[in-house]
Amino acid sequence: MENKQRENWGSRIGFLMAAAGSAVGLGNIWRFPYMAGENGGSAFILIYLAFALIIGISIMISEFAVGRRTELSAVGAYQSINRNWTFAGVLGVLSAFFIMGFYPVVGGWALAYILKSVTGLLSNSAAIGDAFGAFITNPIEPLIWMLVFLAMNIAIVAKGIAGGIEKAGKVLMPTLFVLLILIAARSVTLPGAGAGLDFLFKPDFSKVTGATYLAALGQAFFSLSLGMGCMITYGSYLGKSENLASNAFIVTVLDTSVALLAGIAIFPALFAFGMEPAVGAGLVFVVVPQIFAAMGGIGVLFSVIFFVALAVAALTSSVSLLEVVVAYLIDQRKWERKKSVYTAGGIMVVTGILASLSLGVMSGFTMFGVGVFDFFDILTDKIFLAIGGLLLAVFVGWFMDKKDLEDEITNGGTIKFGLFNIWYNLVKYVIPVAIAIVAVMGIMSIEQTGLMLFGLAVIVVLAIFSKKL
Ligand code: PHE
Repeated sequence: MENKQRENWGSRIGFLMAAAGSAVGLGNIWRFPYMAGENGGSAFILIYLAFALIIGISIMISEFAVGRRTELSAVGAYQSINRNWTFAGVLGVLSAFFIMGFYPVVGGWALAYILKSVTGLLSNSAAIGDAFGAFITNPIEPLIWMLVFLAMNIAIVAKGIAGGIEKAGKVLMPTLFVLLILIAARSVTLPGAGAGLDFLFKPDFSKVTGATYLAALGQAFFSLSLGMGCMITYGSYLGKSENLASNAFIVTVLDTSVALLAGIAIFPALFAFGMEPAVGAGLVFVVVPQIFAAMGGIGVLFSVIFFVALAVAALTSSVSLLEVVVAYLIDQRKWERKKSVYTAGGIMVVTGILASLSLGVMSGFTMFGVGVFDFFDILTDKIFLAIGGLLLAVFVGWFMDKKDLEDEITNGGTIKFGLFNIWYNLVKYVIPVAIAIVAVMGIMSIEQTGLMLFGLAVIVVLAIFSKKL
């Protein structure tokens, strides 16, 4: 058991597809468009792009470096370098559990909508909104889809890194790109599509507040799978000859392109059919089907394609979330992979059921004024990931040896990374300060103050008891 060889990715392209698969998910296609819609469109998008490209790439390089250096997943990676930092890894595993609390619920909706697209959903455009409300509040139907979605996750992760996660990514990611490009091409060629492109690309800064910056930062971390040890874990399976910086660059660019592509697929069509952009989480389940309904017969085909793409994107991301927990059980608890997958998956079934029911029969049960689904979502997206990113930057910048980092990122001096010093100073000084400012501004201007303080308290408690973890 002790000397067992660590699992590894089978090929560079396989790793890239798996890492991009983790990054590209509901965050890009479901959440990015409605966040942009709610936060004024292009001003939000510009702030988002700046965060993703500067903070995102730097943190991703850092996570890959920590993971590959230690060959351990989040908790073990922090712990093996500095015991006092164990809590930062634990926070990551906790974040994975929390995101997996609501993510499979939405993944299940996507699966359901593939079928609904061909069983008459589009035949009555006016009823689509009510149908969505009735579906997600139903106590049985969404649960079944969520369970199907979780079962797919469990089946893939049980097969391991190269045989499961990598294989799935290699098939599913190219499929996703092709499907989205098809939809985007249809959308921009509709008459009246120009207004949607304006909305996406002509900035209006009058809608920007402190909360906008926090939303953009949280979205960048969420979308790039950062701040919770996922890329540490994926990095830990990377071969020593891989170029960390260029891989981080490629994954970030792919992820950002898919988010923009999703925007281009949705907003031009939305404006072309005279609909409202700021409709919240229902955007892709209500407005998008309405758009397809307005296209006539061919709309059914596009609808199927769209929801297959959404389900595929969700699946390659949720497997990475499950893997964060599974890798912890394997590395730290020395469990077998199968036992780890079934145990973690089993707990996620329970949290997923609670989150799904919180939208319907359990809606009366709230914590800090929000239901279980929103509790998981807001806590991770607005607090845990950003703070997790901040902790990682401080850890890498101030608690790791600069020489070790240079050695890791240049593969022992065999490859060049001309931007090393810029990256290092960003991670050490600029990013921690930037995240701190955004977090403070955001917390002050956001409604759920109680929930924010609760989230911070959880982190402080973890830190205090870190030695015992
Ligand atoms: N990046 C994924 C998405 O955009 C979500 C995710 C977050 C996956 C954190 C892994 C870790 O949907």
